[in-house]
Amino acid sequence: MQTKMWKVDKNVDNLITYPQITEAADLLRRNEVVALPTETVYGLGGNAQSDEAVSKIFSAKGRPADNPLIIHIAHEQQLEDFIKDIPAKAKTLMERFWPGPLTLILEKKEGVLSELATAGLSTVGVRMPDHPVALALIEASGLPIAAPSANMSGRPSPTTAEHVRSDLDGRVSGILDGGPTGVGVESTVVDCTEEFPVILRPGGITEEQLQEAIGQIRTDPALSDPRKAPKAPGMKYRHYAPNAPLFLVDGSVEQIQSLIGEKQAEGKKVGVLTTEENEARYQADVVISCGRRDALATVAEALYDTLRAFNESSVDIIFGEVFPESGVGTAIMNRLSKASGSPIIMMK
Ligand code: TXA
Ligand code: MG
Repeated sequence: MQTKMWKVDKNVDNLITYPQITEAADLLRRNEVVALPTETVYGLGGNAQSDEAVSKIFSAKGRPADNPLIIHIAHEQQLEDFIKDIPAKAKTLMERFWPGPLTLILEKKEGVLSELATAGLSTVGVRMPDHPVALALIEASGLPIAAPSANMSGRPSPTTAEHVRSDLDGRVSGILDGGPTGVGVESTVVDCTEEFPVILRPGGITEEQLQEAIGQIRTDPALSDPRKAPKAPGMKYRHYAPNAPLFLVDGSVEQIQSLIGEKQAEGKKVGVLTTEENEARYQADVVISCGRRDALATVAEALYDTLRAFNESSVDIIFGEVFPESGVGTAIMNRLSKASGSPIIMMK
């Protein structure tokens, strides 16, 4: 399949009338799949009401069938078609954080969405992305749009159209290039089907922000206990992994440098994933900074690009610094731990 690339300037007025958007929306209405920018990561969009479109999403990504998709909307009225009812706390969260990087799990109406999109569950995840290109495309299509991150399953999520192309060229009908995404990590997933909402995946909206909006909020215990089964099916999979093994180290620059030295002495090519503050202090074969430690949003923004960059330098092993688990640091550490797949090396 030929993958069409369209460039769009997200800052122009009346995006919905642009030929790139109308052409992409036509493809969506014909149950083809198209990658689109959002404020978090690029998504791979398809008609959420069509088994044909949704099965194309799963096969393009090589995604396991038991992992449900997030449905993207441009207007809250769209929810009436496929959501049973909206609990008061969910309503508050929508008013406060939509459009934005927050996915709410709600009870669905039966018989509207493709069963494949929701993996046969009685609930569905929905969000309104805060990106003019995504909103214009959804609106132009007139459809609820199912969209997982537009990477091959298991790879780091894409934050540029180039990342999408390198994973999905020839596997999807088109890619709308709206420039790099901003937030860099995916939306926070919150289950609103229980009295006290539960965070199933940390993301762009922080626990602190959620608490401030609705008071008590819980976190799925499986996020900190690998023996428990996560409530978001996608959280059980290894994800985001660079080609070389990644080990996170809770230690000083000197301690991490000593680990680097040991591996180099064994003849290995060693990478280190660090921050601007520490970049000049390491001697490794490949040193990559993913942003500023004193501004964690910059780390979130560059994280996946950094993980992908290590693949280009073909290192044998990567050591990575850890980050404080508060604010967006919780999402950063969740993704880094999944990319690593090994316990943190504690040196402190
Ligand atoms: O920022 C984002 O959320 C991006 C952009 C493209 O919107 N999308 C994204 O989708 O990250 P995906 O498919 O890569 O991750 C969706 C996560 C998975 O962990 C999935 O298991 C969970 O949401 N999820 C979806 N529906 C669910 C449901 N009904 N119950 C529990 N978890 C659900
Ligand atoms: Mg994903």
